[in-house]
Amino acid sequence: MASRKADLIVGIQWGDEGKGKIVDRLACEYDMVCRSQGGHNAGHTIWVDGVKYALHLIPSGVLNPKAINVVGNGVVLSPESIIKEMEQFEGLEGRLYISDKAHLNLPYHALIDQAKERLKGDKAIGTTGKGIGPAYSDKINRTGFRVGELLNPAKLCSAIIDYFKQNRAIFDIYEIPTPAQAELLAELEGYKAKLAPFITDTTQMVWKALDADKRILLEGAQGTMLDIDHGTYPYVTSSATVSAGACTGLGINPKDIGKVTGIVKAYCTRVGNGPFPSEDHGEDGKRLGEQGHEFGTTTGRARRCGWFDAVATRYASRLNGCDELALMKLDVLDGFDEVKVCVAYEVDGKEIDYLPSNLEDVKPIYKSFKGWNNSVGARTFDELPQSAQDYVKIIEEISKTKVGIISTSPERDDTIIL
Ligand code: GDP
Ligand code: IMO
Ligand code: MG
Repeated sequence: MASRKADLIVGIQWGDEGKGKIVDRLACEYDMVCRSQGGHNAGHTIWVDGVKYALHLIPSGVLNPKAINVVGNGVVLSPESIIKEMEQFEGLEGRLYISDKAHLNLPYHALIDQAKERLKGDKAIGTTGKGIGPAYSDKINRTGFRVGELLNPAKLCSAIIDYFKQNRAIFDIYEIPTPAQAELLAELEGYKAKLAPFITDTTQMVWKALDADKRILLEGAQGTMLDIDHGTYPYVTSSATVSAGACTGLGINPKDIGKVTGIVKAYCTRVGNGPFPSEDHGEDGKRLGEQGHEFGTTTGRARRCGWFDAVATRYASRLNGCDELALMKLDVLDGFDEVKVCVAYEVDGKEIDYLPSNLEDVKPIYKSFKGWNNSVGARTFDELPQSAQDYVKIIEEISKTKVGIISTSPERDDTIIL
């Protein structure tokens, strides 16, 4: 019997495209929503009837009381962060599961992250400071600890103290003290008390759900341009943010993946350092930031803003195997006389139409299109002003991917499903 396939939501740009809104909007059509990578560097915002929810580790299916939410093995989990997040919701038992194979992101990972960034000075990545890189480094170095180990706090505590002993010289450079054993043990016991009912073998769970014909939605975190291999290295995050990452991050195989929806803003933003070819340093960039309320959900930092980058979108669409795009925040372009799209790059005086491995020295080549007013809150394609409809068609053509969803406000129902 062929099992059902899982649909996937993936960020196409530098994160913050509006993945949370779309996952929440679609969650009513799914039985299970799964995260497969990233950690509490993610900030997924959902607005329902004027109430705002900011999610970092809990999948964005949580507002649908019928959906089961899974935090997969590919995530780096801060127990402290997820426990705090869980306090917003009641009755999570039986609706939230955390992989015993996910790696722990412990307080010392954030201290290392922040110390490394400080030492880098003006070469800093501009990380969220949440310990993501160091937690994934420990996983790859085979010196990490996994969520399942929380179930035996005494054993885990002495393993962590041994880890500090073995790495004392390195911790000295970062001026990070070894935790006091009694305090560490109490902390780990606290985590166990809160999290034990949620910890399980999620690989088996997801397989069973697929085999039982359950509908599964996979929720990506960050975005393609932040992918550890395919993004703007080293200004990236430390996980595989592309659709392929969902396979290793949950224990499913490529054949288990069905429809892939790439989430893109109708313009572009980036938070943190690193190349961003279509960034607008002038009035337009400022206006996009103001109209789009572009401040980070996790760190509150102002996001850098610029125009839609069709070259990066084509690249990301091919990398992820996108069947369709969800075009978000179209309403933010309301009121511009003209809107621009980066259609190609210039490198060493030559025009190229693909994304080179190094984006440091590329210049954007733009085409301009007529702007519009009043797309905000549109719920059907016909309600959109003519120029906005034209813009959607242009994005579709130039990105070589059809637009299947359009979003016109942060609210769940201000969404056009085509
Ligand atoms: P994510 O990380 O991809 O889930 O995105 P974030 O939640 O970090 O950032 C997207 C922001 O845009 C959030 O504040 C959303 O509430 C908001 N948003 C999502 N879709 C729309 C939209 O269509 N229009 C407007 N104006 N805001 C939106
Ligand atoms: P969501 O899921 C936007 C960025 C950071 C920094 C780089 C590395 O909300 O789209 P890290 O802390 O991961 O080591 O930082 O990645 N970054 C994000 N930018 N949205 C995110 O998540 C991000 N998660 C990480 O700003 O540039
Ligand atoms: Mg975000």
